[in-house]
Amino acid sequence: MLRILLLERKGSHATALQKLFKAISQPARIVAASTLAQARQSLDQESVEVILSDLRLADGMGTELITMAGEPLAVPVVILLTAPDALMTVEVMRAGAMDVVVKGEETLRELPLTVTRALRGWHHITRRRAAEKALEQNEIKYRSLFESMRSAVAVYQPVEDGRDFLLVDFNKAAERLNRIGKESVLGRRVTEVFPGVREFGLLDVLRRVHQTGRAERYPLTTYKDHHLEYWVENHVYRLPGGEVVAVHDDLTNGKIAERILNDKATQFQSVLDNAPVIIYIKDMQGKFRFVNRLFEAQAQRSREEILGKSGAESLPDALARQQELQEARMIASQETVESEHSWTLNDDMHTTLLLTFPLQDSDGQMQGICGIAKDISERKRIEAQISQLNATLEERVRERTAQLNHSLESLRRTQRQLVESEKMASLGNLVAGVAHEINTPLGVSYTAASYLQDLLREHMNATHGTAPLETVCDQRLTAINNAVEILMKNLNRAAHLVQSFKQVAVDRCVTQRRRIHLRSFITEVLSSLRPKLDESAHRLCFACPEETEATVYPGAIAQIITNLVSNSLLHAFELKPHGTIWITVIPTDRQIHIKYRDNGRGMTAEQVHQIFEPFFTTRRGQGGAGLGMHIVYNLVTQTLGGDIFCHSAPDRGIDFSILFPT
Ligand SMILES: Nc1ncnc2c1ncn2[C@@H]1O[C@H](COP(=O)(O)OP(=O)(O)OP(=O)(O)O)[C@@H](O)[C@H]1O
Ligand SMILES: [Mg+2]
Repeated sequence: MLRILLLERKGSHATALQKLFKAISQPARIVAASTLAQARQSLDQESVEVILSDLRLADGMGTELITMAGEPLAVPVVILLTAPDALMTVEVMRAGAMDVVVKGEETLRELPLTVTRALRGWHHITRRRAAEKALEQNEIKYRSLFESMRSAVAVYQPVEDGRDFLLVDFNKAAERLNRIGKESVLGRRVTEVFPGVREFGLLDVLRRVHQTGRAERYPLTTYKDHHLEYWVENHVYRLPGGEVVAVHDDLTNGKIAERILNDKATQFQSVLDNAPVIIYIKDMQGKFRFVNRLFEAQAQRSREEILGKSGAESLPDALARQQELQEARMIASQETVESEHSWTLNDDMHTTLLLTFPLQDSDGQMQGICGIAKDISERKRIEAQISQLNATLEERVRERTAQLNHSLESLRRTQRQLVESEKMASLGNLVAGVAHEINTPLGVSYTAASYLQDLLREHMNATHGTAPLETVCDQRLTAINNAVEILMKNLNRAAHLVQSFKQVAVDRCVTQRRRIHLRSFITEVLSSLRPKLDESAHRLCFACPEETEATVYPGAIAQIITNLVSNSLLHAFELKPHGTIWITVIPTDRQIHIKYRDNGRGMTAEQVHQIFEPFFTTRRGQGGAGLGMHIVYNLVTQTLGGDIFCHSAPDRGIDFSILFPT
């Protein structure tokens, strides 16, 4: 139902109008009013679709309804004039009336048509208004969007058939990027505002897009002129109106940051690649995020095979296990952990010293794990070798020391013996020399004394019993004879001694050096001593391997055995009726060892020390000259070229070891 407000100053055509609408089958409700106030009141109560109003009313003009409270009314208003008035019509239309109708019979009849037309016109107007409003709002929206865009936007109008371009719009970001105000660029040529645009390459892009209409992306390039330099990426496209738009994304800061980051990353990688240690970084999921060259070498895998994988997926099992255990410890303690790992790869034993620590961000939050390891396999191998060497070295040093001690001891002994034999030899020479010198006067004295004795004997025989006076003479002669006898006896003894003395200096020519059968030779020597042994109850045991032979001075051997046996009988068994002597011959590779032992009274340490010295005897004045052992010593050391050792203790018998080369 169409609602119409009909506002008439005088009279009302409401009913007539209702009928007219009915006639065209358009149901309509006519609200009649005669003043503006009434009209407003009824409009407050009920809205209408169209208003028909006289221009002049009692309380104002019908056109006043066109705007209500300053806002244009939302319904069309058709003004009814009483008489045609062109000027008024123009005025009314300008005021916003939808139509102007001059009241007359015919026009009134056509009112439904007028209303319909007004409604249609109104409909168009409201649509246009809405579109305009939307357009206006869009314009505001897009302008603000345009201005607040982070990308710089410049709109160009092609001129000279697209050879150059005028700047027709320029947003805030573009002002900022180019450090120039919009007002100073608008209407100017791009080549003028941006002198570097040709080199930059954008001019060609603008021309191409203008010609083809195809949008283009102009990749990141550096723009440069005398006062500007920046990195931008451009998107260029053509607007339907033919303008060309260039959107520049300023990537200068990003680019620099990226370049710095890239440089840093490259430097970082090359520093770590050249570090003499194995380095890796893992994320919190335990995946490798970085490995250096030594790490690749250790794992025998390439970086690409390792990154993004866990240790278990990219490393030898044993190594991965140990590494992960250590990392777990480090994560638990949040502190640096260091330990040694050993594993085998391709039959080679590897050892590394691994240090792991948490990688933290600036807030101290753990972001990952860093491991730094040093391959110490070589060091370990060397250490093992050294310790092995040390172990054997100690052993070797011990052996060597023992050998040296032994050599030193034998050197000392040799030295002692040398000194000893030197002493003995010189003493012997002295004795022999003295003996030689004494021998002649002694011989002369002995001859003279025996001649004197003979003379005396003759004289005594001739004068025996001749006169009484002779008795006294006899007595004197007897005394002289006694004296001569004493003289003879002592000269005899002296001669005997001198004989011994002479023996001291060994005379090698006494016997010939020859090869003898030791067992039979010594048995023979011993049998010559039998008479002496048989007188006593002593025993002698002799042992010698049957086939033992040696090239020696047999005389020396005989003399040695004789002297030793004599000493045992005389000294050792002095107070012992049942003594035993053992003589054992032990032939070895290149020497003969004669062991001589008795179980007699033995000697004190001091006596042992002196035994080989000439004139050492414990039987001085009882027939002992103390030369027997000295002679033995000289025979062994000089004639046989060997050694003699004596061991003894009181009551423990005596023990000689005689060693000489064969
Ligand atoms: N088998 C022995 N047991 C105990 N003492 C001994 C033995 N052999 C030697 N002696 C001691 O060594 C000393 C030196 O002996 P050595 O044969 O040189 O001299 P001697 O027998 O006393 O005199 P000589 O042999 O010149 O007649 C002896 O006086 C004796 O004290
Ligand atoms: Mg003796």
